Amino acid sequence: MGHYNGRVSDANAPVGVFDSGLGGLSVLREIQRLLPAEHVLYYGDSSHCPYGGRPPEYILGRSTAVTDFLVERGAKIIVVACNTATSVCIPELRARFSIPIVAMAPAVKPAAAATRSGKIGVLATPRTVTGESLAALIREHARDTEVYPMPAPGLVELVEAGKLSGPEVEDALRPLLGPLLEKGVDTIVLGCTHYPFLRDAICDLAGPGLAIIDSGEAVARRTRDVLTRQGLLRPGSGQGRLELFTSGTAEHVGQVASRLLGEKVTVAHAAVPPDVSI
Ligand code: DGL
Repeated sequence: MGHYNGRVSDANAPVGVFDSGLGGLSVLREIQRLLPAEHVLYYGDSSHCPYGGRPPEYILGRSTAVTDFLVERGAKIIVVACNTATSVCIPELRARFSIPIVAMAPAVKPAAAATRSGKIGVLATPRTVTGESLAALIREHARDTEVYPMPAPGLVELVEAGKLSGPEVEDALRPLLGPLLEKGVDTIVLGCTHYPFLRDAICDLAGPGLAIIDSGEAVARRTRDVLTRQGLLRPGSGQGRLELFTSGTAEHVGQVASRLLGEKVTVAHAAVPPDVSI
């Protein structure tokens, strides 16, 4: 048992996961695959999505408020399933909450190890592309690789609307992929948790020669490692409960979430007061 923010947390407490919207479900499904016994609380901040073009203090404010919401409901660990929030405010979140916080990082390191052409692309939101954490990752892990970060505004909105294929998606992807492929990129990092849901569309457009790497599975492993170290892994082989919350319209978000997860899920509306003044 551990004491977090005045509460007592134990192995049966849920894992809290959040994103600006439904993209974090790509991380959630990896957590469920690796840790099926865990109860999971998911918060998608869909009515404030996308975070990508917002000022840092806004993203910090929302991330703090949503983390508070999950902690109030007993989360034993928080997974920030949002690259944008990670790159903007992870140190501040860790300073504010004593509960363990697992963060995203674009998969630059495995991509640099995997590329044969020595050229990789990174698709991410504008905020992540210009952030210092991506620059630091590239400096640290891809010194001898040509890295082409590509801001991809508009893709998050498509996934939030449940549009994963078709002409509109192809029109959005073509101008992003074309220049990267022309440079000779053979590996693309999906640096936003919404983008794994566009993997098939990216594959279809780019052809079979392109490797596409995301961080969902690595984050699930990291979550398992942290829980194991803290003695907080839920024992047993039973199936954990999943509870999904949104700041958006429950019915619409529920429909899109069911589509993304490939199974019928119910989402509850839960307003989290704006906390953007910090
Ligand atoms: N899924 C978020 C990410 O990983 C999207 C951010 C946004 O809302 O712009 O970056």
